Amino acid sequence: MLYATFKFLHVLGAIILVGNVTVTAVWKVFADRTHDARVVAFGQRLVTITDWSLTAGGIALIVIGGYGAAMVGRVNVFGARWLVWGQLLFALSGVIWAAILVPAQIRQARMARAFANGGDIPEAYRRDARRWLVWGIIATVPLVAAVWFMVFKPL
Ligand code: HEM
Repeated sequence: MLYATFKFLHVLGAIILVGNVTVTAVWKVFADRTHDARVVAFGQRLVTITDWSLTAGGIALIVIGGYGAAMVGRVNVFGARWLVWGQLLFALSGVIWAAILVPAQIRQARMARAFANGGDIPEAYRRDARRWLVWGIIATVPLVAAVWFMVFKPL
């Protein structure tokens, strides 16, 4: 029962995290493509809000649920290949997020605050938006791969 509860939290975290990072990329691109400073700035503000709530919340649930289930089920987290790969891929995605995506978001949020009431969108913002999208897609691949390893559990 306790094992299933942790696993439930873990899977819920994976749904929230992967769901948020994929859908955020979609509406952010559409917001940016309006070239309307107010819409772009609002989209950017939502990226910050959803990142702190859904991305961080999803990560917390994955960690608490994953390691909680492993502890309760007496599963050695370095004992199975699928589990080692799951952790490595999760860490890889986290490093890209922390090293590239978060700094790019902070820069964009700072610029967006300046044009939130209208005005010109600087070229530096567009550059960061492109970089954020490319690295966001790259960071999502290890997460999808982690889902594969978790579900198929290859030996
Ligand atoms: C932080 C490192 C991780 C640990 C310690 C961990 C641990 C676990 C454990 C113990 C299970 C239960 C296996 C079972 O009862 O069959 C599980 C299942 C699962 N994990 Fe992870 N996991 C990690 C990362 C991830 C990540 C990053 C994702 C996806 C983004 C993920 C998605 C899943 C899914 C979808 C299942 C359900 C698989 C099934 O029931 O067949 N896990 N994980």
